[in-house]
Order: sequence, then structure tokens, then C-alpha cells
Amino acid sequence: MPTTVLVGAQWGDEGKGKITDHLSKAADVVVRYQGGNNAGHTIIVGNERFALTLIPSGVLYPQVTPVIGNGCVIDPAVLVDEMAELDRRGIDPSRLQVSGNAHLIMPYHRKLDAVMERFLGQQQIGTTKRGIGPAYMDKFSRHGIRVQDLFDPKIFHQKLEVALKDKNKILAKVYNSLPMEIEPIAEKYLGYGDQLHDHVTDTSLLLWEAQQQGKNIIFEGAQGTLLDIDHGTYPFVTSSNPTAGGATIGSGIGPKTIDRVVGVAKAYITRVGTGPFPTELNDETGARMVELGGEFGTVTGRRRRCGWLDIVALRYAVRVNGLTELAMTKLDILSHFENLKIAVAYDSLGERFTEFPRQQRVLYNCHPVYEELPGWDVDISEIRSYDDLPKEARRYIEYVENMIGVPVSMIGVGPARDATLIRNP
Ligand code: IMP
Repeated sequence: MPTTVLVGAQWGDEGKGKITDHLSKAADVVVRYQGGNNAGHTIIVGNERFALTLIPSGVLYPQVTPVIGNGCVIDPAVLVDEMAELDRRGIDPSRLQVSGNAHLIMPYHRKLDAVMERFLGQQQIGTTKRGIGPAYMDKFSRHGIRVQDLFDPKIFHQKLEVALKDKNKILAKVYNSLPMEIEPIAEKYLGYGDQLHDHVTDTSLLLWEAQQQGKNIIFEGAQGTLLDIDHGTYPFVTSSNPTAGGATIGSGIGPKTIDRVVGVAKAYITRVGTGPFPTELNDETGARMVELGGEFGTVTGRRRRCGWLDIVALRYAVRVNGLTELAMTKLDILSHFENLKIAVAYDSLGERFTEFPRQQRVLYNCHPVYEELPGWDVDISEIRSYDDLPKEARRYIEYVENMIGVPVSMIGVGPARDATLIRNP
């Protein structure tokens, strides 16, 4: 049974939830390994729409053990709410397993996220303001508070006191904001501890044992390659490692146990927040993509920036993740365009780039070099077999596949659970 890592191959919002959902049918364990409730995974089951931010999408299958690994940052208020919501809708959340080593998002992290962004003004990152960055800052400065601390009130108080002393000074003196009080936070969080207690376990050991037993494990990346703190378009990135390597660090498994790395990319490309975006369309075509693709964020509702598919970025994603295959989502949205462009290189500062530029200055000045392919003026959302796609749509897929050097194994043609074409190229 394979261990599969599924990653976003663009700037997040690639439709990973739907592909994880598809793979989860045959999975035993589905793991989140980084990020927190900055992610939004939407899955449509029948007439019901599930929008999860923290709990792995695999929870919707009764045989799956959903796991939140050590690499995640957890806002416990969001987690208990999400569990209650699933319960209310008839999905049993009791199987959820959470790493005691995952870090907690505290109220001062959310506050700092907001004031830090405000302070940046024009340079702001456009974060989701969920406290993600400040929580990871505390993790790496070793002032973080972890899930396991919730179960020792004395230690929790001590850690909170140290953290708050520091944060209140920063809030007041740097950001001119009101300080926060310790007791209401402590009371609330220890209450969450009581609610989460039975879910917290050594998830690294759980995964090791699952691998020994030959179980089918899926690692569900959040955000995407170009938002990776190391490999993304820094500083306009998130604060964790969505790339495939993050799965080992963020869960405590060894890299040699990974058999398959599936990248997920839209048939075009989108981005929320600020930062460079070479194929961005600030015109009517971009506006049509927003409208046809329903390109508004699951978490913040923000309008996504849209552009043509970027092969330079996609080849980069193949490389830094070691992708073994690609799932392409939302191909149906392209049905409404007469001609389709695909960026195959960038021109920047007098040079042509076919590899993703490492220098921010180069990236900011990129002008995409496009190839043009014919579109198909047919609704493909009811098609369920690759061979039934119009030849122009197949040509689009095969063109991408040739350019990136890995097979396109799954193709999304609509939001429904069964609207994913499986292909064995
Ligand atoms: P943060 O993760 O909230 O710190 O936001 C940092 C950057 O990542 C911002 O540009 C966000 O818009 C972006 N981002 C974070 N999570 C997601 C996601 O799930 N999809 C797309 N963009 C995201």
C-alpha cells in the first residue's frame, strides 16, 4: 500500500480537497502536515458542501483516520468548532488524532497578524489574518505553546505568562495596541484542552505503525509550492513548508517511505494575497476566469487573481516536490475561451528564463512568453471518460504533460465528487 503526498503545485486553492477526497476513498489514514486554518478545502458531497480548514478532507470517509501532524499550527477554537459542525452533519469526528507537538495559535497571534500587516502598509503580504505567521514565529523562537501543554495547567500558565509579558510589550510599544489579559485566555484554552484531550496522541508513532501494517496513507498538503517559506515567492508566502519535503518534517516519517507525490494544479492559475504573478490577467479574460471559476477564497472570501497556466512555475513544482504525477483541476472552466494561452518562458531584464527565477527582482519584471492552443466550445462537465473529451481538451492536457515531464493522471471537469477523470497515460 502506498504512502502518497499530495501537494499544491501553484499558489494554493488548486482544488486539492477534491483530489484528496478522491484518493481518500481507498485510504486508511489522511494527514495534514503544515499550516493551519489559513487553508480552505471545499468538497461537494451530493447536495452538501463541506468547507474544512483544519481537519483533513479524508474525515468524510468513515474508514479514514484523520491526523493533524506536528507541523501544523492549531487554533483550538476553530478545531472544536469544526468537529462540532461535522458531528452536527452526521460525520463522526471522534476518529481525529492530533499531535501533542503541534503548536497552538493563541489570541495574541491573531492580533499580531492583523497589526503587523497593517504596519506593513503597501508592503503587506495579504495574510489570512488567522495568526499563522506569528504562531510559527513563536515556534522557531522557542516561545511557542504546544497542544500537549493544554494538559498541564501549571506549565500552561507559566508558558502563557512568559509569552504574554513579551507580546503585551510588543502590542503596546510597537503597535500601539491594547494589552491582553492572561486569565480569560487560560480559562478558554484549558477548556479546549478538556475537549481535545482524547484526540491527542503520538501521531509519528501512529503513522509508523500504520506503515508497518501496510496501510494506505495520504499526506494532504495545504497552500501550495509557490507559497512555501523556502521555495515560494518569498516574502509573499505562508510560514510553513507545503512542499513534499514538509510532509516528513511535519509528521515524523522518513522520506524513503514516500512512494508517490501528486501535484495538484488548476488548468489555469490563481493567487490570493499580494506578490509577483507573471501570468496575471488584469483584463476581461481574467475577470471571466474569476466569474466562471467562482474564484473567491474559501477562508477569507477574497477575490482571487487569475491568469493563464504557467508551465515555468509548474516545472518548478515538479522539481522541488519530486512530483510523480499531476492532477489538473477545473478544466471545464477553460471551455468558455476560444483560444488558450500557456506560458512556456519568461522574458525579464533582457534575458529569457525557462526555469523559475530565484531572484525576486527578476520575477517582478517577468513578461510571459505564450504558446497558444485552440479551445473547445463544448461543455465538458458531464464527461466521465478521458477519451470522450474533445480533441482540443486532450491536446491541452497532453501538451502540458509533455512540457512538464510527468503524467497528468487525474482531470477535474466539475465540482461534483465524481467529476474527476482518471487516466492511465
Ligand atoms: P498566511 O498563511 O495567512 O500567513 O498568509 C500568507 C500568504 O499565503 C497570503 O498571500 C495568503 O493569501 C496565502 N495563503 C495562505 N493560505 C492560503 C490558501 O490556503 N490558499 C491560497 N493562499 C493562501
